[in-house]
Amino acid sequence: MESTAIANANIALIKYWGKTDREANIPAVGSVSLTLSHLWTRTTVAFRPALKNDRLFLNGRPAGQQNLDRVVRFIDEVRLRCQTGHRCEINSINSFPTAAGLASSASGYAALAMAATHAAGCPLSLEETSSLARLGSGSAARSVFGGFVELPAGETARPPVAVQIADENFWPLAVLVAVTDDAPKFISSRAAMEVTQRKSPFYDAWAKASVNDLENMRSALQRRDFEVVGALAEHSALKLHGLMMSSRPGLLYWNAGTMAVIQEILKMRKDGLAVYFTIDAGPQVKALCRREEQAAVADRLLALPGVRNLILAGPGPSARVEEQS
Ligand code: PMV
Repeated sequence: MESTAIANANIALIKYWGKTDREANIPAVGSVSLTLSHLWTRTTVAFRPALKNDRLFLNGRPAGQQNLDRVVRFIDEVRLRCQTGHRCEINSINSFPTAAGLASSASGYAALAMAATHAAGCPLSLEETSSLARLGSGSAARSVFGGFVELPAGETARPPVAVQIADENFWPLAVLVAVTDDAPKFISSRAAMEVTQRKSPFYDAWAKASVNDLENMRSALQRRDFEVVGALAEHSALKLHGLMMSSRPGLLYWNAGTMAVIQEILKMRKDGLAVYFTIDAGPQVKALCRREEQAAVADRLLALPGVRNLILAGPGPSARVEEQS
């Protein structure tokens, strides 16, 4: 009745933003991501007949009510599928700042889906684990798989299933995560997406344009065309943040450090380094480059006063259960 699973975070190269079904958490646009090494969540779930309520500890501390409510709803779904009525204790640890726009909900729900189903005695395939994880967070559906992953758009009657485009050994790229603020973000991506979808005049154009972006990204990845992958990722990120800024109220996740990193990356490109950026729902900037250029890019990013911490990563593996020793 106890199991531990590890899942890695991911960055979206083509972003998902907006839903067709809020209850079932179904994305209105498809997305492509890269699962990251070095940024992971390790979660232990223990179902105990003696427990009266579910308990959740994040990084060793009891979680707040909002996080707990969201996780209990998710575990209710696991209880239904696995036909158990027992309450559980969940212990989850992140190797990186939580809820700061570094996809902790992605690795968090991917690890939780895998650990909880194993602990409840009904382990699922990776595809099924991914579909379950999507109920917790859209990006979590991608974190169940390693390497490059696509989560298509879907509808209530046709929920999407994430697919691995290529595993973590396909292309040894480097991702440098420049942390500019490690405090939790001011608004969750779930809430921000809802505001944008209802209140930006450009939402429909965003959804329409993503179809082409996805097709171009898939084909650039297959050709391992770094410049095209980088340029498309950057375009998708800027388009997403422009979309957020255009809603009412306008949503702006960036800080001065975010801007400084973007400008430095543009300068590096002028200086002949092939490096591109992407930004999810937070102020952190992820720089994407070839492995050979990682050290040069790291030196320049670390010299910026707005960069508090730099996490070096590459393609990471699929979610996995930790064997008991
Ligand atoms: O899956 P959520 O609710 O954490 O939202 C993900 C939002 C972005 O990270 C900005 C984009 C994406 O596709 O991961």
